[in-house]
Amino acid sequence: MPITFISDKNLFKLDAAGATYVLSVTKGGYLLGLYWGGAIPDANFGGYAFRDYASSFSPSNPEVTEGGFSPDTAPLEFSGFGTGDFRKSAVSIRNADGNDATDFRYTGHRISRGKGAPAGMPATFAEDPADCETLEIDLADRTTGAELTLFYTVFEDLPVVTRYARLKNASQKAMDIEKISSASVQFAAMDFDFIHLYGRWGAERNWVRSPLAHGHQSISSARGSSSHYHNPFAALARCGADEDRGEVYGFNLVYSGSFDITADVDYYETTRLNMGINPEGFLWHLEPGEVFDTPEAVLVYSKEGLGGMSRAFHRLYLDHLIRGKYRREVRPLLINSWEAAYFDFDTDKLVSFAERAKEIGIDMLVMDDGWFSRRNDDRSSLGDWWVNEDKLPGGLGVLIDRVNALGLKFGIWYEPEMISPDSDIYRAHPDWCLHVPDRPNSIARHQYVIDMSRQDVRDNIWEQMNAVLSKYKIDYVKWDFNRNLTEAGSALLSAPHGEEIFHRFVLGTYELMGRLVDTYPDLLLENCSGGGGRFDPGMLYFSPQIWASDNTDAIERLAIQFGTSLCYPASTMGAHVSMSRRTGFETKGNVAMWGTFGYELDPNRLTEKDLGIVKKQVADYHKYYELIHYGDLYRITDPWDNAFRCAWEFVSQDKNEALFTHVTMRYYHCPTLIVRFKGLDPNFTYTLESTGEKYSGAFLMNAGLNLSLYPRGTGESFVLHFVKEN
Ligand code: DGJ
Repeated sequence: MPITFISDKNLFKLDAAGATYVLSVTKGGYLLGLYWGGAIPDANFGGYAFRDYASSFSPSNPEVTEGGFSPDTAPLEFSGFGTGDFRKSAVSIRNADGNDATDFRYTGHRISRGKGAPAGMPATFAEDPADCETLEIDLADRTTGAELTLFYTVFEDLPVVTRYARLKNASQKAMDIEKISSASVQFAAMDFDFIHLYGRWGAERNWVRSPLAHGHQSISSARGSSSHYHNPFAALARCGADEDRGEVYGFNLVYSGSFDITADVDYYETTRLNMGINPEGFLWHLEPGEVFDTPEAVLVYSKEGLGGMSRAFHRLYLDHLIRGKYRREVRPLLINSWEAAYFDFDTDKLVSFAERAKEIGIDMLVMDDGWFSRRNDDRSSLGDWWVNEDKLPGGLGVLIDRVNALGLKFGIWYEPEMISPDSDIYRAHPDWCLHVPDRPNSIARHQYVIDMSRQDVRDNIWEQMNAVLSKYKIDYVKWDFNRNLTEAGSALLSAPHGEEIFHRFVLGTYELMGRLVDTYPDLLLENCSGGGGRFDPGMLYFSPQIWASDNTDAIERLAIQFGTSLCYPASTMGAHVSMSRRTGFETKGNVAMWGTFGYELDPNRLTEKDLGIVKKQVADYHKYYELIHYGDLYRITDPWDNAFRCAWEFVSQDKNEALFTHVTMRYYHCPTLIVRFKGLDPNFTYTLESTGEKYSGAFLMNAGLNLSLYPRGTGESFVLHFVKEN
């Protein structure tokens, strides 16, 4: 049993593969987070939680007189506000009396097989309830009548704990939630580095690593989406931990809206990390009997450095988050029209792309933005989802029939959460966008944001989308989202519910996206937000792949893909070969192969030479699909460590096969390049496919190979494929 309650010690022990998480309940009913780290067989935690009184500035509760206990110094697992714990609280509630003091104490617990999910939100799942076990701990604040349930799930074969919280107003009066974390985690130490992913449009998810210091370190989004700027991911790496060694704690929020992750190092050198919905722009009103669920948080423990952490996230997401047909089935290799034509296309041009794509071996044509209403540039028409017959004479049916007749599948673009002021829908319903009274709406890319909190608005968008999707054979949808939320108000939400809009927006998006994938289970959905502005586990629950960035330059993509890989598997990273000029087609292909792989160019512009390379890439896509999509990733040299070159490797789960890629970003004079490979079985013998030479796994990992004579000029790359000898 991965979860045990040791009743004589009032202690919960959660054992995941290679990791243990321990909670205890004090005599006064405080829930303490005692330990999270490497697996431990016993639970002799008597006295472990003892923290001496600091001074008269550490208050205690008169009812709880156990020696030295103060909420100020105790490792409270989910601290309320205003009753003696002065660190960042996990939950803060304004009660009907107008104060926000809460003091949650244990009232009971349950342990069961399987797991649930927060209402209306994506979450990890276990198809077989035997794969995981869940602990629910009930806490209550006697004074306000607020009741809290904390959910912990342990996946037996992974070093992962998932968590979320449910708050119920069990009183007779209304209350407002000012803040509620999905998880709050205590560490009796501060010797950590805080790692996170920051970025911007075209340069998403760069690694940053800095030592924790006394005080707060946080990342957040207040944009209404997870955003290009910070990803809802952070890690605490024990000082000295690196890619392959040392303890790393990884945190990721299964949420696509505004979030906050804060590490709070207190005066006594302990650390608390809270993660959840950003309290800024959040106030949730609960009438008596009502309940609020937080998004789910994923917690990963690794003893094998950042690499081990990434592989645990990847395995969890591949097996327990991504759903639908294309979770396992080979996805069609696609060509997208955006960088090939932008808004300038018609049926004949698209068919000409499809004809050439067919010759190359591509499986699907995706028609990007510009196919609907009067959308000839980005200034109009979002929300009017009817086909522009000036561009596509005879309508979509004619185009799709011609594409299908070539043997290609067909995909289409939507941006369902947006509305152009210059659109029929906006002229008819000016109150269908987010807005607040007496304040002009900010504009971005000439568009407003639709009020996704409204059922009637979502129904209208759905009816328009469904009219197209139900009529034609559409195999793929790209769901885009090209601006953030401002003037976030809804015509249907007034005080005391007005500030619920940011979260209600996300819930509305999830509901509509859920309708789409439930109605069309065979559809391949790819999310996108001006590139990778909403690359988060919430979106991955609906779409097995997300367009990683609008930047398709192979060299710049390296940092984007390395950063993304910290948390997200290769099969989720939308990556295409484009006409970008900095490198040749070999390198563009080798880089895009570390992702979903596809093309974003006019195939009629390919030279004969490039066509040959592209045809080989298509064959490689099929050859390495399983290895890249389901294998384990080992990062060898990353672009922040080394400004000149980077390298990575995929190893199949049975260790029978490995694929190594090396890219030189900038030529440098260095006579030797010896690379030691990772993740192989030391006892296996591997054949290097290109030369037929044989090496033991031990040799490849310890001595490595001298790769000095492989292509190493600026922008050049090479790939090595190792196969186990039978
Ligand atoms: C932003 C996306 O990232 C692009 O790939 C493309 O779909 C455009 N939007 C279309 O407007």
